[in-house]
Amino acid sequence: MEIKSICCIGAGYVGGPTMAVIADYCPEIKVTVVDLNTEKINAWNSKDLKKLPVYETGLEEIVKSKRNKNLFFCTNLEKGIKEADMIFLAVNTPTKTSGLGKGEASDIKWVENAARQIAKYAEGETIIVEKSTVPVRTASTIEIILNSFTIEKNLMKAQKSFFVLSNPEFLSEGNAISDLRNPDRVLIGGKDKEAIKSLISIYSKWIDKDKIITTNVWSSELSKLTANAFLSQRISSINSISAICEKTGADIKEVSKAIGMDKRVGSEFLQCGPGFGGSCFKKDLLNLIYLANFYGLKEVAEYWKAVININTWQQNRITSVIFEKMFGNLSNKKISIFGFSFKANTNDTRESPAMYICKDLLEEGAFLKIFDPKVDRDKIYKDFNNIELKKGFSNWEVYKNYLDACQDSDAIVILTEWSEFKNLDWIEIRNKMNKPAWLFDTRNISNKKQALEVGIKTWHIGQENT
Ligand code: NAD
Ligand code: UDX
Repeated sequence: MEIKSICCIGAGYVGGPTMAVIADYCPEIKVTVVDLNTEKINAWNSKDLKKLPVYETGLEEIVKSKRNKNLFFCTNLEKGIKEADMIFLAVNTPTKTSGLGKGEASDIKWVENAARQIAKYAEGETIIVEKSTVPVRTASTIEIILNSFTIEKNLMKAQKSFFVLSNPEFLSEGNAISDLRNPDRVLIGGKDKEAIKSLISIYSKWIDKDKIITTNVWSSELSKLTANAFLSQRISSINSISAICEKTGADIKEVSKAIGMDKRVGSEFLQCGPGFGGSCFKKDLLNLIYLANFYGLKEVAEYWKAVININTWQQNRITSVIFEKMFGNLSNKKISIFGFSFKANTNDTRESPAMYICKDLLEEGAFLKIFDPKVDRDKIYKDFNNIELKKGFSNWEVYKNYLDACQDSDAIVILTEWSEFKNLDWIEIRNKMNKPAWLFDTRNISNKKQALEVGIKTWHIGQENT
């Protein structure tokens, strides 16, 4: 089937950048990204490219050259679906917050809603591509919904047929455009050979065919959960070792380097820190845990649960260190927070360790002076509202540069590895801070020697600290 028109349901962190890259490599295809959220669509259509709802290196350029040529953002779901030969589902699948499977299972209500809308509006043959990360066997739910409409409509002689493929996304935020342009692999799960061929024909416009692998649908869905489980497990592993380093005098950077040089281990994802954040790792681990429990595999569930437990422990451990070092009292102390996003090069704060550590500090009575190069005040305000602070609701302020955030502050806590924090003006910082001044670097990114030389007491994660 020749694909002339693509619709993507969901204009979020995955849908927006993925469709921008497809539009860039396939100028002959009309790509429409639809979303229920008018504010988000308006932001995608904003003249000022700085106002795009997603910040990714290289995204602005593509949107600038492709928008309203073969890349469109709109709220008209019906039109988008009707026109499409291929529909990507890139809607959110967060962890359920109530009901059966609460706190573990993924909520697939948005996937189901989108499937119903497709069933209603699609015309002719349509390929549905599951991009969202979903529980294993969701493709069959989608198929059942779509086929129930097909039967009904075919009775009325309006022909429509659907082919469902799984095509999980492995991009990592902050590197979305380069990951999409040059992925390690593209995974396509499905039954229908022609539908698979159509999707391959799109990716092969820019990706080597050797990197495009096909599997059955369930393997594809499970591979996505497994990939995130393995990556997060590495982070919990190295974080657990960081605590041993602090006790023994070993240095986590040296340990990471030494083990990472073993080809069987590999050097990626061995950076210790304040725990993993982001919208995917915890959610997908919980999804896997739910699946294991569902099939009665208690030990498997417990194994993966331990990865989350270490992550939470690491976050709590950092607050405890700050508390203890600052004489067991944070009441009315000013703490400068450097970085609020869950990692560098993104404005995303979902599940950010910074958010949880800030919550603990606020509840201990500290006043936070927050600086993040890409996260604005509104987002931080919403995050603090969502995590149900017990204390310190208004004991924080956001600053446009790190020096202002240091004025009269007692401590700096580096929580995101923004490159800006590699070369800080320690003399200026020291002059602005209260004494004794503390630096807690949970990312090992700042210059410890320079900070010490100007008289700042430092604590670096995974190192022996005096
Ligand atoms: P997101 O919340 O940023 O975007 C999802 C969008 O879908 C929202 O804007 C929402 O309004 C829209 N939406 C929901 N239901 C809709 C409907 N019926 N019609 C139209 N729009 C609808 O989420 P995201 O981060 O882009 O993630 C999307 C999926 O991709 C999730 O399943 C996630 O697990 C997976 N994923 C995310 C990443 C990542 O780095 N963020 C990476 C790989 C996979
Ligand atoms: C992750 C997966 O990497 C990606 O393949 C998947 O599609 C979505 O989930 P993302 O959440 O964007 O991507 O970010 P990632 O770079 O994986 O980082 C996740 C968290 O782990 C961040 O909080 C980051 O700071 C932390 N991390 C990462 C570490 O603490 N140490 C590391 O060595 C790597």
